[in-house]
Formats: sequence, C-alpha cells, structure tokens
Amino acid sequence: MKTRATQSLTKFVVLLLAVLAKTGADYRATSGEDHIRRPWRGSDGEEEQRVVEEAAGDEHDHHPWWDDENDHLKALMLWGSERVGRIPVNVDSFDAVGDGVADDTRVQGTIIAPEEPKQWDPKNPRAWLVFSKLTGIRIQGGGTIDGSGTKWWASSCKINKTNPCREAPTAFSIDSSSGVRIRDLTIQNAQQMHFTISRSDTIRVSGVRIRSPRDSPNTDGIHISDSTNIAIQNCRIGTGDDCISIVNGSSTIKMKNIDCGPGHGISIGSLGKDNTAATVTGVVLDTATLTETSNGLRIKTWQGGSGYVKSVRFENVKMNDVENPIIIDQFYCDSMTRCKNQTSAVKISQVMYKNISGTSRSPSAMKFACSDTVPCSNIVLNNINLETENGNAETFCNCAMGFDYGFVRPAADCLKNTACDGSRDYKQKETRKILHTEL
Ligand SMILES: *[C@@H]1O[C@H](CO)[C@@H](O)[C@H](O)[C@H]1NC(C)=O
Ligand SMILES: *[C@@H]1O[C@H](CO)[C@@H](O)[C@H](O)[C@H]1NC(C)=O
Ligand SMILES: *[C@@H]1O[C@H](CO)[C@@H](O)[C@H](O)[C@H]1NC(C)=O
Ligand SMILES: *[C@@H]1O[C@H](CO)[C@@H](O)[C@H](O)[C@H]1NC(C)=O
Repeated sequence: MKTRATQSLTKFVVLLLAVLAKTGADYRATSGEDHIRRPWRGSDGEEEQRVVEEAAGDEHDHHPWWDDENDHLKALMLWGSERVGRIPVNVDSFDAVGDGVADDTRVQGTIIAPEEPKQWDPKNPRAWLVFSKLTGIRIQGGGTIDGSGTKWWASSCKINKTNPCREAPTAFSIDSSSGVRIRDLTIQNAQQMHFTISRSDTIRVSGVRIRSPRDSPNTDGIHISDSTNIAIQNCRIGTGDDCISIVNGSSTIKMKNIDCGPGHGISIGSLGKDNTAATVTGVVLDTATLTETSNGLRIKTWQGGSGYVKSVRFENVKMNDVENPIIIDQFYCDSMTRCKNQTSAVKISQVMYKNISGTSRSPSAMKFACSDTVPCSNIVLNNINLETENGNAETFCNCAMGFDYGFVRPAADCLKNTACDGSRDYKQKETRKILHTEL
C-alpha cells in the first residue's frame, strides 16, 4: 500500500500540448524532472486505505478528507504558452505539498488544447491529459478543459468521407488508478472522447459537465473500460456520441442523477467486436433525464462476440423526445461494410427497466433485438410509460425473454413469447440500415 501510494503521485504527470489559461497566474509550466519530490511520502498506508474506502462509500461524502474546509490546495494554474509542444508538468512544479494528507490538485481557469491536429505528437495519438497510476487523490476546482476539437471533427472519416479513419486524442483520462475523486470540472469540445476511465477501481465522479455539439463525431462523454466500483453522479453531458459508455471488463458501475442530451444516450457496449469476449456486470442507473438523444438506455453487442452482460438496472428515467428510448441491439454493426451473420453472441441477462417514462420520437419505444442463438433472458419491465406524439409506440422483441408487471406501455407481451423464430424480416431490415456512425 505504502509503496503504491508513494509511487502514485510521482506519476502524476500531465501531458500538456500547449496550454493556455485565463487565470492570470504567473506560474509557468516547467519540465524540471530534477525537482521531482516524492509527494505522499508521509502516508503511513493506513491513511491511504481510509481514503480509498471512503471513496468507495455511497453518495454522501462528509469525510473531512473530501471537505472543502480541509483543503490545503494549491491551484494548478498554467500560464499561457505560445509554444506548441509537449510540456510535461509535475504537480511539484506547482508547490504540491505531497504529505499524504493535503489535497492539492485544482484545475481553475481553462486549459485549452492546440487546435491544429497536425501539431499533435503522432506517437501519442490517443491522449491529451492523462492521469495514470494514482491512488487516493482528488481533482477538482471548477475549471474547464477544452479540447478545441473543431478541426479534429472536420477531418474525421465520419464527417469527411474522403479521409482515412484515424485516432484522435481523448481529452481527459484516468488510467490504472484507485481511490480517485473528480469533482466540479467542465470538459468540452474534446478531440474525440471527453473522459475515459480505464483499468481503475473506486473512482467517483461528480458535478462534471461535458459538452460538445451534437454533430461532433465519436465524442463520448464518459467512457468506462476495465474498471470496477465507479460512481458517476450529478453530471450533465451533451455530446455527439454516447453520454456514458461502459465496455468490457467493467463491473459495479453506479450512475445517479445524470442529465444526457444531445447525444446517443447511455450505453453498455459496444461489446464483442471482431469475435472478442466481453463481460460487463452490475450496472445501475438511477435518476436520469435524456433529452433529444438518438438512443436512451442501450445495450449494444456485435454478432460473433462472446461473454456476457448481466445484472443491469435502469430506473427513474425521464425521456424527452428520444429516438429509441429502450434498446437492446445484438446486431450492432458500425462498419462501412455489412456485418456478416454469426451464431455466437454476448449473452444478455438480468436487465431491469423500472419507472421509465416520457416521449419517444420513433414508434420503436422498446426494442429487444436479441440473438437467435443466444437469446436475452430475464428482461424485466416495471412501471413503463413511453409514448410517441401520434400514440403509435410499440415494443419489438426478437428472442428476448422476460416479463413485465405493473403499468407497462407500450405493451410488452412479446417478452413472454419464448419462441426464437420469425426474426428473419427483422435481421434483413437491420442489415440494410447499418451505416450509423459511432464507435
Ligand atoms: C476533406 O478532406 C480532404 C483531405 O484532407 C480535403 O482536401 C477536403 O477539402 C475535405 N473536404 C471538406 C468538405 O472539408
Ligand atoms: C475484456 O476484459 C477482460 C478482463 O479485463 C480482459 O482479460 C480481456 O482481454 C478483454 N477483452 C478485450 C477484447 O479487450
Ligand atoms: C419515477 O421517476 C421519476 C423521474 O423520471 C421520478 O420523478 C419519480 O419520483 C419516480 N417515481 C417513483 C415511484 O420512484
Ligand atoms: C443473414 O441472415 C439473414 C436471415 O436471417 C439473411 O437473409 C441474410 O442474407 C444473411 N446475411 C448474410 C450476409 O449472410
């Protein structure tokens, strides 16, 4: 524990490629490796453990460690640099206390990425601000991280079809970390994804605002992979892709009070691409509003995958003019060419939808398009009220088994129909409209 804590903050290296801030501070970004101290050296391990456990706690955070009056924070403020180039920044350059107790990471003002994709280091195509191998820290401050994505979007193969598809940076990444708390930040106009959490556990995100135009390509809001015990709450996300996406290797993900729109909704997946195995378990979304999104609550898997999605609950969700409010799509295909039919699939079971209401833009208010060979099971609906303007909302099922109780509109009797046939029409229709554009 101790070793880990000691190492963690020294890895707190932010890769900044040109930084502009409006804070007016006279800090200057330096790359003085020789000044690196060992922050958090003083931690006795016990303190560290406590912090991590606290971070794992529920919605309330009254532990002094999290409280503002206990802050001994120094602002992480970076003064404008005209230079474009990588500036590795260590927290010590900003007078980090690093005693294992003081919490001293703040983002204030605005950190702006260079807008010209050509200026990006081709060796690091996927990353802008990266926080890696951290234990027990908090990042907050009310500031803004702006990816200046406009030119990246325009050159995306999804927008300019003559361009080859290539990678673009994620604005803000937490990787291989534990006990991290992100609070009160705005992340906007990311080059591609806004905020990724990977290979991490016990991460709490609250009061984060994410915004990009609805036509910005692949700009997922928060993307979670290979991570466990993640809590996301009180976040407002509007993007050109999924507001939140949860992919392989993720478990115990709790989302609460999420405002999503525009965007593609809240998604588990995509999973199982290129015949890969994937597992996602224990996902809860409680209290959300989705406005003018193309999907609402979605689970998407590619044909040919394996593994499973299990134990998912979506509850207390309001839909405002959402194209596909509730959707399971096991025929997901986001490629330029048609996806071929395959028999294996990522198994989907134990998915509950409870107290979901509002308006659907398409008649397809609930769609459970499950694999013929690996049907969905234990799909449960309770207290659903979805309608279109014309009153023609319907439920579609293909090999989806489960039940509904309480008030459920549109009726979902097809869930009780366990026969897995009659799907051919559906699949043909599906394969014809595969050219939707997202990762
Ligand atoms: C698409 O990209 C090509 C090559 O990068 C460029 O020449 C062309 O002007 C772009 N088209 C549009 C509409 O921006
Ligand atoms: C899925 O996650 C598991 C567990 O983290 C990992 O072992 C596996 O390699 C991942 N699969 C893919 C395709 O990334
Ligand atoms: C149902 O969800 C709505 C939010 O869409 C919430 O306001 C309401 O309190 C929930 N009802 C129950 C019984 O939990
Ligand atoms: C996939 O299966 C459907 C029937 O289930 C069939 O009509 C279609 O041609 C198949 N597509 C391919 C690419 O084999």
